[in-house]
Amino acid sequence: MKTSIFFIVTIFLLGVILKAAMADPTDGFTQVPISQSNFQVQYPYDVSQSDRYSFVNGVHKFWVYSTDKPFSPSSTTKPRTEIRITGYDYSSGTWQFEGNMYIPSGTSGVSVMQVFGGSSAATTAMLRVYNPNLTYYRSPVIISNVYGTWYRVNVIHNADAGRVQVYINGVFKYETGDNGDANHYFKFGVYTQDSPSNYMESRWSGIKVFRK
Ligand SMILES: *[C@@H]1O[C@H](CO)[C@@H](O)[C@H](O)[C@H]1NC(C)=O
Repeated sequence: MKTSIFFIVTIFLLGVILKAAMADPTDGFTQVPISQSNFQVQYPYDVSQSDRYSFVNGVHKFWVYSTDKPFSPSSTTKPRTEIRITGYDYSSGTWQFEGNMYIPSGTSGVSVMQVFGGSSAATTAMLRVYNPNLTYYRSPVIISNVYGTWYRVNVIHNADAGRVQVYINGVFKYETGDNGDANHYFKFGVYTQDSPSNYMESRWSGIKVFRK
């Protein structure tokens, strides 16, 4: 009798532990359909797209130089090669971006992922690289020594509650307030910030968008 109760309790606890271990930031979310047609590539206006972006074997590769032109002649923003996800702009609800990210050594002073739109700032969230770390804007550090390894990145934006969460490889890393109501969408690639390296590059695969 004692043995069988012990056995049942053990099985139950193993189940609880397994469920916790398998918990995923996308639990409870619904994936929305996405294809290349949802990806609008922005790149310096005086070059060809293929001079700054490639999509080979499912990997989006973005690169830009700190001396490059902005994405349009009328823009005064810093150089970028970015995908702006279209078709899922939002101003309410909870939305989640997922992608596998690779940053090569040397890339610095650059945003590699952003949640666009805010009322107190132009953006809600930015993941940036400052040699050798991945940071949330300037701080805190989200990944130290980010170079040369693939990471799964999940960014959750609850626009109703005004909160942003960042997960790396399925593990919760950071939560903070957003920057106010606006029209929002996700972007990823390389967008020059302060103290940039001459050459900036990021690679992304498995891009998914979820909502709740
Ligand atoms: C990178 O992260 C480490 C560990 O958090 C920190 O000690 C270091 O100051 C950071 N480097 C920069 C340039 O922010």
